[in-house]
Parts: sequence; structure tokens; C-alpha cells
Amino acid sequence: MTEVIDGEAVAADVRSGVADCVATLADAGVKPGLATVLMSDDPASETYVSMKQRDCEEVGIESVHVEIDANAPAAELYKTIDDLNQREDVHGILVQLPVPDHVDKRGVLRRIDPEKDVDGFHPENVGRLVAGNARYKPCTPHGVQKLLDAYDVETEGADAVVVGRSDIVGKPMANLLIQKAPTGNATTTVCHSRTEDLDAKLADADIVVAAAGIPEFVDGSTLKSGATVIDVGINRVDADTEKGYELVGDVDYDSASEVAGAITPVPGGVGPMTRAMLLYNTVKAAARRHDVDIDLP
Ligand code: GUN
Repeated sequence: MTEVIDGEAVAADVRSGVADCVATLADAGVKPGLATVLMSDDPASETYVSMKQRDCEEVGIESVHVEIDANAPAAELYKTIDDLNQREDVHGILVQLPVPDHVDKRGVLRRIDPEKDVDGFHPENVGRLVAGNARYKPCTPHGVQKLLDAYDVETEGADAVVVGRSDIVGKPMANLLIQKAPTGNATTTVCHSRTEDLDAKLADADIVVAAAGIPEFVDGSTLKSGATVIDVGINRVDADTEKGYELVGDVDYDSASEVAGAITPVPGGVGPMTRAMLLYNTVKAAARRHDVDIDLP
């Protein structure tokens, strides 16, 4: 029987633990604050940011939102980041990606105070993660780690395949899986668009993390029987629904769920975890700033 990994349930546990941290911080006179910055007209980005704001409210994190016209000069975004870096009530800053083409993404990420970089994308934080001394683990791979842990998936000695090499998911995911640490110690292969024989890699994988950004890219016929399949994809595809689209993952769920030992659904798998880990990083940032001991979930 294939086990369906319930990301909503695990995320609810994380949020509950985060809410306890918020209470501890309140006792110390600290209210954690997250700033979200949106410089995009993309409806999916707008939805993600508004969900993040709602999540904050639910656990008692103050949320500040800044919207910048997608055609505005990059300097406007830089100025916003500089202001947020200075604000005492803002402990975490998230600039929703992608930013418009005329804005240098790397310059944006470098500009955020690394202590407030709750995405974990600043080069200093990337370096720390790779060195095994993470300050903030990027939210999606951290959420995947929590799911593997919650479902007692053995990573030590396992063959893991990460499909996708993005800075946001693929690279940090692989780095976490190879760490000499709990939920690490996996023999990890990173596959991408130039991988010669993806099917052969997948056939040996005990754990597959699909993060290619291509709808239903991984088919069940390529998977090892009993593999744990983590689907990071959230793709909008045209469909005859009220909204005119439906969400599908990077894994063909129907075929994969016939072969996998455990699998995440889309939606309801990794997505809620990504959002929960942002709250986690935000309370961590507030606790670091004010030197308060909290018991992170
Ligand atoms: N766009 C897609 N995923 C993410 C994320 O985790 N953080 C930010 N800032 N932008 C994103």
C-alpha cells in the first residue's frame, strides 16, 4: 500500500510549534515581524504572497507587505530593502521571486541583511548551509526534510535523486541530503536538463525529490518499487475548471502512486510545508535578534 504523505497535517504541527515560539517571544516583549515584497504581476506570485501574509496572522507574526510596480526601476526595490533592513519591527524579509528581468536577482538577494534573510538565499547563508552550519535553511528543502522525518523515511545510506538544480530547491535540497546530520547521509544524485539517462538514475532511487518545474515529468514507470516520492512541483495547467486551470506536480501522481512506498500529493504535500518553514525561520530570526531562547519545532 502506498502511503500518502499529509503535508497539511505536518505543517499544522509546525505552525503549532511556531505559535508556541511566538508566545515565548511575547513573554520577552518581542513580536516577530515578516516583510513580504512583491514586484511582479504574476497571479501565482500574488497568491503565494497573500497566503504567506495570512499564515503570519494565524500564528501571531506581524506582517508588513510592500508592493512595487513591476516596471519600476530596480532602485525602488533596493531602497525598499534598505528601509526594511533598518526596521526594528521587521525580523524577516522575503522578496518574492522571480523579480522582473530588468532587476538583478543576485543584487537583490545580496542586499538583504543576512540576519533577516528568512529565505536563506543570501550568499552568506548559502555558504553556511553548504558548510553544514545553516543559519536559515531554505523553506522548501527544509520542509521536505521535515516531511521525511515525520514519516520516518530513512535517508542514511539511501540513494536519493533530486530532479532539478535550482537555487531555491534543487541545490539546497541536495546539500541537506548529503549533510552528516539527521535526515542527511544520503548518497545523492542531482539530475537536470542535461542528464543523459534520467530513467536509469530514477530506477535506483530510494528517495526521489522532483523539482524540475515541468508538469508530470516523472512517470511511475521509471520509479523503483517502494520509493519515497516527494513532489515539489506546483504547475498551473489549463483545465475545464472554474478557475480555468488545475494544479499538478512534477510527478504523474496516478502512475507514481502505484509504485511508490510513500508519495506527496499536489496540492497538500510540500506546498504547506514551504509556507510553515517560512514562519519557522521568521521566529528564529526574531529570537536571534533579541537573544531569546525558543524551542523550535
Ligand atoms: N518563488 C518561488 N519559491 C520561492 C521562495 O521560496 N522564496 C521566494 N522569495 N520566492 C519564491
